[in-house]
Amino acid sequence: MSTTAPRPIHPHTPAARPHPVDRYRVGGARALVTGASRGIGRAVALALADAGADLALAARTTAALESSVAAVEERGRKAFPVAGDLALPGTAAEVVELAAAALGGLDIVVHNAGILPGDGGPVPILAPFQDTRQEHWVQVVSVNLNATAELCRAAHPHLAVSDQASLVVMSSAAGLMGTPLLEAYAATKAAQVSLVRSLAVAWARQGIRVNALCPGWTRTDMTAFAGDTGPLFDWLMSHVPMGRQAEPEEAARAALFLASPASSYVTGHALVVDGGLSVPDGGLAGTPKPASPFAVG
Ligand SMILES: NC(=O)c1ccc[n+]([C@@H]2O[C@H](COP(=O)([O-])OP(=O)(O)OC[C@H]3O[C@@H](n4cnc5c(N)ncnc54)[C@H](OP(=O)(O)O)[C@@H]3O)[C@@H](O)[C@H]2O)c1
Repeated sequence: MSTTAPRPIHPHTPAARPHPVDRYRVGGARALVTGASRGIGRAVALALADAGADLALAARTTAALESSVAAVEERGRKAFPVAGDLALPGTAAEVVELAAAALGGLDIVVHNAGILPGDGGPVPILAPFQDTRQEHWVQVVSVNLNATAELCRAAHPHLAVSDQASLVVMSSAAGLMGTPLLEAYAATKAAQVSLVRSLAVAWARQGIRVNALCPGWTRTDMTAFAGDTGPLFDWLMSHVPMGRQAEPEEAARAALFLASPASSYVTGHALVVDGGLSVPDGGLAGTPKPASPFAVG
């Protein structure tokens, strides 16, 4: 009998190395997605389901949530609807607790719910800041920022006991740039990135990765005001180097990267998915831009 101990297989030898694509799988993970009834959040939920997660899906509208639940179940995964209005203090924490109870814990949280000022109401969505009212600011801050803080705080104890914890906050390219006509929205999205960076540092040794995702113009109900054609749409797209808006699935694939072990060494990052919108071109791009339909400032 040999007295030599067997040589351990180094985890990075080819035999032990998982295929890179397998690192995008989140089989058995328990995931909460807010704003999952439509748009980017629904696409994120379906991407996570395709990658193997069971889901709690949060939003206000029960019927739309049920449709997302059915789409997840069609993919062979469990899904639980959690209805609640994140504009109301206390709801974000309730949503987290209901989700954790339904799933038996949380490994992934994608906090995606968000609004533009005037979303769903008579207030113009794009308006000079001096013409907006403080109530519009408060509305946007309550949903986009206050609920984010509450949700992150409530998610912490659940993520801290997971061995694959990832928190993804849906910010926006608007939070990385000067964004006239959408100042309140942009301020909340910038604050989300700041919170993500702080939490990433604070929670790194607890095994919780925290990242932001920053989409640019994406085809959802939120951007329906701009249409698919016409002067406003053309003007908006003229500022996007790739010259088009994104489909929700293009943001969802980036969310899957951040949620999955594919991004195991990524934390405190703001991942931009904007077709180049936020890249400064120094005015040298030469792409002709139609005149702004707005008087800014
Ligand atoms: N679309 C874009 O161009 C774009 C670009 C950058 C960043 N984003 C960000 O991506 C996220 C999703 O945007 P989207 O375009 O998918 O928007 P969307 O189509 O308008 O969907 C918003 C989602 O959030 C939910 N929601 C809205 N207000 C809520 C509230 N008070 N309480 C609970 N849930 C609420 C909505 O469901 P209910 O109405 O049923 O509650 C819906 O599921 C947002 O954070 C947005 O800021 C979007």
